[in-house]
Amino acid sequence: VKIYVPRDAAALALGADRVARAMADEIAARGLDAVIVRNGSRGMHWLEPLVEVETAGGRVAYGPVKAGDVASLLDAGLVSGGEHPLSLGKTEDIPFLKQQTRLTFARCGIIDPLSLDDYRGHGGLRGLEKAVAMQPAAIVAEVTESGLRGRGGAGFPTGIKWKTVLDAAGSRKYIVCNADEGDSGTFADRMIMEGDPFVLIEGMAIAGIATGATKGYVYTRSEYPHAIAVMTDAIAIARAAGVLGPSVLGSGRAFDMEVRTGAGAYVCGEETALLNSLEGKRGIVRAKPPLPAHKGLFDRPTVINNVISLASVPIILDKGAAFYRDFGMGRSRGTIPIQIAGNVKHSGLYETAFGLPLGEIVDRIGGGTASGRPVKAVQVGGPLGAYFPRALFDTPFDYEAFAAKDGLIGHAGIVVFDDTVDMLKQARFAMEFCAVESCGKCTPCRIGSTRGAEVADKIAAGIEPQKNRDLLADLCNTMKFGSLCALGGFTPYPVMSAMTHFPDDFSPAPAVEA
Ligand code: NAI
Ligand code: SF4
Repeated sequence: VKIYVPRDAAALALGADRVARAMADEIAARGLDAVIVRNGSRGMHWLEPLVEVETAGGRVAYGPVKAGDVASLLDAGLVSGGEHPLSLGKTEDIPFLKQQTRLTFARCGIIDPLSLDDYRGHGGLRGLEKAVAMQPAAIVAEVTESGLRGRGGAGFPTGIKWKTVLDAAGSRKYIVCNADEGDSGTFADRMIMEGDPFVLIEGMAIAGIATGATKGYVYTRSEYPHAIAVMTDAIAIARAAGVLGPSVLGSGRAFDMEVRTGAGAYVCGEETALLNSLEGKRGIVRAKPPLPAHKGLFDRPTVINNVISLASVPIILDKGAAFYRDFGMGRSRGTIPIQIAGNVKHSGLYETAFGLPLGEIVDRIGGGTASGRPVKAVQVGGPLGAYFPRALFDTPFDYEAFAAKDGLIGHAGIVVFDDTVDMLKQARFAMEFCAVESCGKCTPCRIGSTRGAEVADKIAAGIEPQKNRDLLADLCNTMKFGSLCALGGFTPYPVMSAMTHFPDDFSPAPAVEA
């Protein structure tokens, strides 16, 4: 019998290692015929650590499990799926999971992340097998036709980026995976790397074969030690099995890769700062053009894609562009892994086709706030994303629909706040965050963010509120249009949305209106 105890960082933070140890001890003491598999997470954080058991009728789940629950779980017949107060029934029938469309995360939490056999047994490597038999231009065309857009946040068409690199002259080209997941409330990249690392390896190998790049780097941050360990082991396993190396799957085409770790500066998620960091330099933004697709890592043509973009490629090659494109709405095709966090009852990862209204994600799927108080605001797209009030809950999860409401879906993280949040403080926090994380290259961001925090303080102190509100809006305008990269350029989104949708919080008790 296989008993699954996750090794995902979220589960570990909630005691999964203690549960696994207690389980191993009890299994040995009772002489049970059971093995423990350390899987990734199913993405239901409020149920972690989620323990699963394989039964004849499918996997059944228990959670959240503490080490102290293990003896009573085994007493209740856990190894044969017995009933217990922590029973959740069949895992696949838990509504949060059942209603999802899992394409990119199809295997996450199901397989042993470091078993290539398990990966193959669940449809893995089929995309790469097809790709090695295709011409590079045909692979690029397939990705273009699928409608896949960059899941890091900007939504640029992946196929067009690949075509730029394929067409660029150069004897050496690179694939760089941006795994510097820095947005607050996001964890999709980490979950893939910890729960299904081979899908990222497969996606990068396909990208390499499609564009003529023979070397890949996964650039991640030191805050992700578990992801680094799993990715590093998985790359070694893939290399030993001939999935990576001088002849990928015996095709005669070469591709190899390695993991590189940055110190965790937010700006190193910006692609050109990332390239500098990867080259061993300070993480400072480079001016574009030249685009990395033309002159990227070590000045060579480079594909830089987010983890989720690359991890979505294998299923596109396996099932075809039309299959993938069939999901979604408008120009947002396929699925998106929405990461639900903050003050919310059911936090976790929810992969679904584009188009779900924001309110449904927050109220129905997330179950409203954990505090039980009314939802006041939802920040979508990380610390540089806009705050949406209830009045905008009908906005469908789609790049263009969010842009039309002065927001962005970014890397698809949503953070929920109840009615105790002070939106002026949140606006100030955005400016402060920008000041701390700014690389310092351009003035609107470096100076503007510090001045912005000061102006927010003046509004809070009731000093000339109207004049300072106007000044803050003017400063946001300068930062939005005058900054060199998205850090300074997008900080106005949280600030302006807070001011527009929650004006009461910017009108503190009447004071010294001069
Ligand atoms: P961008 O719009 O400048 O570029 C998007 C991508 O397309 C880049 O890789 C760029 O090199 C490429 N590109 C543009 N034109 C091209 C062409 N003609 N040929 C080939 N490639 C081309 O956006 P940027 O500054 O790279 O990203 C901003 C986004 O990053 C924001 O929307 C934000 O949501 C997101 N973000 C994500 C974070 C995360 O943790 N994932 C953190 C912070 C921001
Ligand atoms: Fe650096 Fe900020 Fe300018 Fe970006 S906007 S280049 S982070 S100073």
